[in-house]
This record gives sequence, C-alpha cells and structure tokens, in this order.
Amino acid sequence: MDTTPTVPVPAVPAHATQPGLAPVPAVLHVGQVRVAPPTVLAPMEGLTDATFRTLLRAMGGCGLVVTELVSARELRLGTARARRAARIAEDTRPVAIQLYGADPGTMAESARICEDEGPDIIDINMGCPSKAVTRRGAGAALLRDLDRAAAIVGAVRKAVNRPVTIKMRLGWDATSLTAPELARRCELEGADAVAVHARTREEMYRGSAHWEEIARVKAAVSIPVIGNGDVTSVGSALRMLRVSGADGVMVGRAAVRNPWLLLQISQALAGRPIFRPTLSQQREMLLEHFARVRARCDHPGAVLGRMKRIIGYWIDGVPNAESLRRQVFHARSPDEAVAEVNRFFDQAMREEGTAIRAADGAGTNRCAPCSSFRREGTGERARSDFRRAVVSNEHGKP
Ligand SMILES: Cc1cc2nc3c(=O)[nH]c(=O)nc-3n(C[C@H](O)[C@H](O)[C@H](O)COP(=O)(O)O)c2cc1C
Repeated sequence: MDTTPTVPVPAVPAHATQPGLAPVPAVLHVGQVRVAPPTVLAPMEGLTDATFRTLLRAMGGCGLVVTELVSARELRLGTARARRAARIAEDTRPVAIQLYGADPGTMAESARICEDEGPDIIDINMGCPSKAVTRRGAGAALLRDLDRAAAIVGAVRKAVNRPVTIKMRLGWDATSLTAPELARRCELEGADAVAVHARTREEMYRGSAHWEEIARVKAAVSIPVIGNGDVTSVGSALRMLRVSGADGVMVGRAAVRNPWLLLQISQALAGRPIFRPTLSQQREMLLEHFARVRARCDHPGAVLGRMKRIIGYWIDGVPNAESLRRQVFHARSPDEAVAEVNRFFDQAMREEGTAIRAADGAGTNRCAPCSSFRREGTGERARSDFRRAVVSNEHGKP
C-alpha cells in the first residue's frame, strides 16, 4: 500500500470554476494522438534526453514528451549526433521528434527519415533563440519570416502521415508579436497543435512569461494550444491555464528540478490528492537519474558534466540544496558526485529527524512530509521506497 503523504486539493480544478472559461479537458487530441493528461515535457537540449524522458514517463502524469531539437540538415546527412537525438524509446510514447531547419525541402526529407523511428508526432522548432540557429533562418528566425514558416509546415505536413505540431515563441521582440498570425498560418498548412513559450526571442529566458499573450494565440486558431513558460508549481500551472485558456500545459526547467511536477499537475487537474515526495524519494530519484546517465555513456567526463548540469536545476523543494549544488560542482568523478549526494541527503534526513523529535517533544503538530520520515530508511530500504513510489504513481496516473 502506498503510504506517501498527500495533501487534499479541491475536487474541481480551480481554473475550471472561473466564469467564462471552459475547464481543461482530461484529454488533448493532437490529430489522432491522444495526449492524456494534457501535460507535456518541454524539449530541452542537454537535459530531456532519452534517459530523462524514460524516467519521467515512469512517474506517470505526463501526457507527451518531446525529443531535444534535432537538426534536419544533420539528420539528412546521417550524423551520429542527429540519429542519437532522434532515437525514441517505446516506453515513452506518445513522443514527438522535434526538428529544426530553414529549408522546407530539407525539413520534409528529414521528417520522412524520422518516420523510421516511428514517432507519434513531428514537432517543428520555431522558438530556439540561439544565434547559431537563427542566423541560418531557423528556430526563432521563423517568427519574422511567416512565408517560410508556412512553407515548412506545408512541406512537412505533405511528407508525413502523422500529426505535425509547432513550438513557437510570442514573436521576435515586443514590437512584433507574430505568434497569433503564425499559428493561424500553421493551422492553414495543416498543423495539428501549437505550443507557445510566452516570451519573445529578444527576451531569451529573462523576465516573466506573458501568459496573457497565449490567449491571443488561442483566439486565433481552432487547433489545440499548449501553454509554456515559467510553470514551476501546481499553482502556477493552474494560473497559466486560467490566464491563457490553453488546452494543455508544457513544463521545461521545473520538471528537471522536480521530476514529480507533471504528475502533481495532472493530479490537481483531475481533482486528486497531490503526491509529495519525501527526502528519501528525492534522493533516490536523483541517484536513479545519475545511474541512468552512467548506463548510457562510457565517458566519465561526459557523465560528470551531465550530472553537474542536472544538479544545476535540482534546488527546488530540497532544503539547503544550494550546498548540494556546490558540492557536486566540485566533484572530480561520477563516484564523487554520487557520494556527495548521499552525504547531503544523509545530513538533511538527520536534521529532519532532529526537527521532528524536537517538535514531538514540544507537542507540536508535524507536517505531512516530515511525519513520513520515520517510515523511511536509507540505502536499500530507501531504494525500495522509491520503486514503490514510481509503481504507485504509474498505477495512479490519470
Ligand atoms: C537548457 C534548455 C534547452 C532548451 N532546448 C530546447 C529545444 O531543444 N527545443 C525547444 O523547442 N525549446 C528548448 N528550450 C526551451 C524550453 O522548451 C521551454 O520553452 C523554456 O525553457 C520555457 O519553459 P520553462 O519555463 O517551463 O522552462 C530549452 C530551454 C532550456 C533551458
């Protein structure tokens, strides 16, 4: 039996009660692909590789995952990097392969090549702000070249027999918010859904996402619109959905910090209790992620680099996690990084235990996550706690 602490949430999702706003449906249809729940892991180069996508899927609560961006030109040339990035695992379906490029012919050809991998969806990147991508006319450059963008969508649409989606930003800068018009042109060319990161290219990742601008895209099209940008918690997901009227929610950075976030959002949308990981489960999740990275790569330097990248995002909800980040950043080998993680969590759990005993002594009520601490062990015991959590979440996924 799952003894994980939970907190109650309202039976009706908060956003569903707002006058004039339809509730978010439990299923999002992207062409013939069923995305249920309507929660999507955002593509993130260097973070959401096959390892992470598989791990996140195992948690439940994620309706769709997207590969990191893949260069259409490289895929056509057959480079190892592009083929690796476009590889998908059966247990992560439904999954979209994201392509980027500026030439409609090359995009269409690479989309056909992708079909061998059998993705459920082909996604086209129209949001990448990096100069290396935009100076070739791809990624966010398409936000100010709508004719080319439409030609790409039309060519890919004709080339493949599966849904085509677009991931875009709001526009190039604040003076050219082209997303509604771009989305409309994409729909006319046969796109099945769009995801909108509510920032302009000029903003890169600065400032706050403008969720209200997603509403303008939603008003311009009749295909599903997925909202993205700065969703960091259940509360912000519900707020984004309410402000934008989007049909689904896409989460990027915060899902690396908190791999349970999509599950938690899906639980809130379904009006179910929200899963709250214990410290022990957070430790095991992180170690599992590290173990999977090691299993996929033989080069210790590359493994350590990836571990540091992951830990860079791992500070949410873990008390004192900044010190964990510092310690792992100074590690000289993958083994040292794992040892630092174990040291950090051993200490954190000891401190949590002391706090609980002090609170018990003072007759104070314990909070739910702390009270679970007594049931947890470390090492093998904790590992099996983690497995139980994964299994129980899979079963409980909406
Ligand atoms: C490290 C990193 C890599 C990213 N790589 C991609 C990518 O390959 N394709 C893409 O469409 N967006 C990419 N993005 C953008 C994210 O998908 C997402 O739109 C953005 O991070 C905003 O969402 P968030 O606030 O939930 O993180 C990347 C973002 C980050 C931080």
